[in-house]
Amino acid sequence: MAAKKAGPPRGPAVQFDVATIVAEKQRTGCLVLGVYDSGALPAATAAVDRAAGGAVGKLRRRGDMDGELGRTLLLHGLAGIAAERVLLVGCGARREFNDSSYRRALTEAFAVLESGGATDTTVCLPELEVPERDAYWKVRQVVERGLDVLYRFDELKSRKDAKKRRLRRVHLSVPAREDVDRAKRGVRDGTAIASGANLARTLGNLAANICTPSYLAECARGLARKQARTQVRVLDEAGMKRLGMGSLLSVARGSREPAKLVTLEYAGGKKGEKPVVLVGKGVTFDSGGISIKPAAAMDEMKFDMCGAASVLGALRAVIELKLPLNVVGIIPATENLPDGNASKPGDVVTTMSGQTVEVLNTDAEGRLILNDALTYAQRFKPDVVVDIATLTGACVIALGAPASGLFTNDRALGDALLQAGRYSGDRAWELPLWEDYQEQLKSNFADMANVGGREAGVVTAACFLSRFAKDYRWAHLDIAGTAWRSGDKKGATGRPVTLLVQYLLDRSRQRGHRSARRKSPADRQRRRGARAG
Ligand code: BES
Ligand code: MN
Ligand code: ZN
Repeated sequence: MAAKKAGPPRGPAVQFDVATIVAEKQRTGCLVLGVYDSGALPAATAAVDRAAGGAVGKLRRRGDMDGELGRTLLLHGLAGIAAERVLLVGCGARREFNDSSYRRALTEAFAVLESGGATDTTVCLPELEVPERDAYWKVRQVVERGLDVLYRFDELKSRKDAKKRRLRRVHLSVPAREDVDRAKRGVRDGTAIASGANLARTLGNLAANICTPSYLAECARGLARKQARTQVRVLDEAGMKRLGMGSLLSVARGSREPAKLVTLEYAGGKKGEKPVVLVGKGVTFDSGGISIKPAAAMDEMKFDMCGAASVLGALRAVIELKLPLNVVGIIPATENLPDGNASKPGDVVTTMSGQTVEVLNTDAEGRLILNDALTYAQRFKPDVVVDIATLTGACVIALGAPASGLFTNDRALGDALLQAGRYSGDRAWELPLWEDYQEQLKSNFADMANVGGREAGVVTAACFLSRFAKDYRWAHLDIAGTAWRSGDKKGATGRPVTLLVQYLLDRSRQRGHRSARRKSPADRQRRRGARAG
């Protein structure tokens, strides 16, 4: 059994609060200020510059801090300034400053703070103007970027990271008093989202001999513990058999680790209100099975449960925020291993839906476990179902790391998810689910094959799933390129927890006060286009 205890990891070690400050007089370990590459300095930076006898302007003119996006310069003991340190962060051209440059500036700032000596910091970047974004958004980004950069995974090292985290408090400066309430909501939402994303990262990073299907089930139980509105059910293989989940069970055959179907129900909405159902692929290790994968980078297939992890992470945030929604998480969890008892290429399995599948490649196992979970989802009478899966290598080739692949049978749901991605920075990009692709799944021996050939592999995988999602509004997120990084920064990213929670936040706000939803320029453009066309 697992050597480590399940359950959510340590809470955020850093506290955030909001204040209106006088930058040059602020007593703090490190004052973080933005610098554009030309023209006027941002207000707080200009005030510090004046108090310090023009020191910042001089540094920019001399080229020590040219304001290029992402550049940083740490100054100690600046005369005339109360702060112990000043961290200048390049923000690029003022005219071009936008969501992504703001996020980049924050990421670089926290990287310096993380390795520096300050125990508290005052971040003035929320005072910068970002087109279309308010104090809520700007503050939330600071919290999310900060907790993302400061995340450590040392659970599996015998000696914890030599340097103990020093940064304990982050003060966020907002320019106007009337922004304070909005900014405080940004801190609350950002903290909850980051704690969900970091839970997902930790589950992804844990080794596959620790993070087993049973471990995921225990984690769900941990989230529901002492939560009145939350309930967990764990189905074992006998239970799956009774329900006719021949497809999910066919993947589990090759493994000694018992498969689990985990359901986590959160009832924060009105009784009888149809839930949002999130279905996450939970393959805790994907060797490919009999269609075994090559050895290179096979260790990364411990990340094949990142869809499941994102469902648990999103639910953690939803529970923490007490969102007024009904949300159900469903996690089919198993290993995919070769064995004398494993599924073989050519085997035909009967799904819970009654449709039969010829397993031409045992490495296309994600769709085999998801189809039964999608059929199972029907019993919750969902308003919408979103599945999240590290489904295809082809998606990595198509979109890389910037965007998750999105497929949907419902325009409004697709638009809501795309918008949630743009607003939160955890983006998705839509790919087609046209009938034309369905014929690639033809089988001579069963209702369908589980693979559709080399062409458009990301699309045919989604087409396969769509055959099990006909009775409700459904979307599929292929997160194979976004859920983790390879190379020397190898590790889970926590995506797309932020996108999912944003979608749920938007939904809960739509019920109450519609005005809370802010439109992006892209949205306006789209609406204009729709009107024109
Ligand atoms: N978990 C993999 C997808 C994957 C591969 C994600 C590499 C990230 C990196 C999935 O189960 C799989 O093996 N898919 C196959 C499908 C193929 C056999 C049709 C793939 O993408 O090669
Ligand atoms: Mn596979
Ligand atoms: Zn897989």
